[in-house]
Amino acid sequence: MFVPPVGRLRGEVELPGDKSISHRYAILGAIAQGETRIRGYSPSQDCESTLACLRALGVEIESSGTALLIRSRGMAGLSRPPGPLDAGNSGTTMRLLSGVLAALPFPTVIGGDASLNRRPMARIIEPLGRMGARIETANGEFPPLHVKGGPLRGIDYTLPVASAQVKSCVLLAGLNASGRTTVRERMPSRDHTERALPQFGVSVERRDLEVSLQGPQQPQGTSLRVPGDFSAAAFLIVASLLVPGSKLHLDGVGLNPTRTGLLQLLDPGERAIRVSHRADWNGEPVGRLTIGCDPGVLEGFPSQLAGRWIPNVIDEIPILAVLGTRLPGGFRVSDAAELRKKESDRIAAVTQNLDRVGVRVEEYEDGFCIPPGQTIRGGSIRTCGDHRIAMAFAVAGLISRSGVRIDDPDCSAVSFPGFFETLEALRA
Ligand code: S3P
Repeated sequence: MFVPPVGRLRGEVELPGDKSISHRYAILGAIAQGETRIRGYSPSQDCESTLACLRALGVEIESSGTALLIRSRGMAGLSRPPGPLDAGNSGTTMRLLSGVLAALPFPTVIGGDASLNRRPMARIIEPLGRMGARIETANGEFPPLHVKGGPLRGIDYTLPVASAQVKSCVLLAGLNASGRTTVRERMPSRDHTERALPQFGVSVERRDLEVSLQGPQQPQGTSLRVPGDFSAAAFLIVASLLVPGSKLHLDGVGLNPTRTGLLQLLDPGERAIRVSHRADWNGEPVGRLTIGCDPGVLEGFPSQLAGRWIPNVIDEIPILAVLGTRLPGGFRVSDAAELRKKESDRIAAVTQNLDRVGVRVEEYEDGFCIPPGQTIRGGSIRTCGDHRIAMAFAVAGLISRSGVRIDDPDCSAVSFPGFFETLEALRA
């Protein structure tokens, strides 16, 4: 796929439903008693992987477009799957679902594609072990995971890495554990699980960076609407700000503050990005975004990003790197070693691909540095099968001198099916 430089981008975009929230609503619906109706479920391959795993566990799920109807009798309604569960490329599926599998009275196996089977799982094996589950692997900490579940006990757990997936895994296990489960964070990570649980009638106590629940609790089915995915919007927001003459409208975008660091960094005064039609969808803030072209936002953007910003913008760092090529003071990202453990080694993927399109960049163990005064010339990039690398470098193509060729555009369907068609339509 070749993405040439573009004159302007204009139009209204229908975003896919938020991937993180969709996983959580489907998993909670599957262990809730009664019917759960979900509107705007993410059409991403990752969220399809979650549904496939839940169906293999005997959960009844009807889907029509992006609407789902889940019928369940709770944990007691789950049955032993006929074979290993396949989480595909989805770390969230594997890590969150393991919190449920850990409490089942039968053994299960969960694996994924080559990329997921290289991702670290000690971070969930350890706390689930403390709760009383046994998880074995044939290959160090790497999937497939052989989960021997059973009765669990609550724990008080401080997250060693800032990870919403680990936090959510422990909370889901805590639902079926005896006693209290507390998760403490050193830095805030996305809080969709904490917001979702009360929608299913679960009581959760939150204080600063601490969340607790008393187990066991039985979630109850409910009706929910999934906001548009802010992390999918991020590519279009950056494109619209940087491509002269652009104007984009994005409706029903999730604006959870644990996700919208990019907005806070780009436009704290809402000068270039107008937010209207604010609403609350089942405890998640949403709004309509109108984004004009305004390279002026680059002036106020920090030239260094580290510490507490990182978990908030963790999925936006590939597109921030593209934006970083335009920053007057250059751009340095640090404290982001977690990026090496994503769908690809994103520090290597970002720096190697920037180099391929003619941008000088230095790579560090925990980030990278882009010196000021550069332009994206253009060239051919390799996605490493990583959806966010494909989409970030598509935007690089739009603002490049001679365009960017992307070896594997189809991997964008992992989070944003139709991304390239959307870009094409906005160009017209
Ligand atoms: C996610 C959490 C983040 C993020 C991932 C989705 C989630 O991962 O990068 O895309 O839905 O909880 P970590 O929890 O590993 O930081």
